[in-house]
Amino acid sequence: MTAAPAQGRAPKLPPAYRLVPRDEVESTNIEAKRLAAEGAEDGTLVWARRQTAGYGRQGRGWDSAEGNLFLSLIARPDCTLAEAAQLSFIAALALGDAVGSVAPPMIEVTYKWPNDVLFNGRKGAGILLESKGDAAGAVDWLVVGIGANVTSFPTQARYPATSLHFEGCPTSLTSVDLLEAFGRHFLSWINRWLDDGFEPVRRTWLNHAHGLEEEIEVRLPSESLTGRFQDLDPGGALLLQLPDGRQRSIAAGEVYFPAGG
Ligand code: BTN
Repeated sequence: MTAAPAQGRAPKLPPAYRLVPRDEVESTNIEAKRLAAEGAEDGTLVWARRQTAGYGRQGRGWDSAEGNLFLSLIARPDCTLAEAAQLSFIAALALGDAVGSVAPPMIEVTYKWPNDVLFNGRKGAGILLESKGDAAGAVDWLVVGIGANVTSFPTQARYPATSLHFEGCPTSLTSVDLLEAFGRHFLSWINRWLDDGFEPVRRTWLNHAHGLEEEIEVRLPSESLTGRFQDLDPGGALLLQLPDGRQRSIAAGEVYFPAGG
């Protein structure tokens, strides 16, 4: 039996999860990494109502006001670290399906490579994967951190942001509702991935990809590239067609849409 944090109802998750609920933590990812290093099992899910030092990709801060969803899930898939990076797409699809199942149809969910979830074209959720492998490159543990804007969003973000409530969802919709739906959909997507590989995930993600076939800018640590977002390769890398017709495969970077949005 898991205790609920001080306020609100306790989330109900399928038995595959072991919920670790907290009122306040520095960061659910920090907490989950600590538990993973101590041997916490696959399916351990740290959920907090507030974070005091939430962080995102490239060490940026993540606004962590109460009301939004903050969770970090420990996974121990039997695969390489490179394959395990596909869990960020799985998490994105699960969050997208969760929004689809708890929010009215006015919210259009799209995916921004590599791991953002957009609500009506603005960033509504971000995903941060952290992992530890062994010497052979196999996964020891993976932490899938997700922050989703339910009630509020940052107005000073690098990329325009929004929240479910701002987009018109009823204010009765809470982070607990979204967490429960996410738990169900993540299980279903990870089982699909374990059974059928990345291809069904890739296809579904591409069907709702933001900016596919459009001109995009991809910022890498040492350069910035502009080209047409052509496809995802079979492993999840972004395929960019450069102005001279060559194709470039990009494993990590930040995407911007010059046309705005
Ligand atoms: C990003 O878009 O940069 C990823 C943001 C990930 C934020 C979540 S909130 C829950 C978990 N704990 C953290 O400190 N970060 C992730």
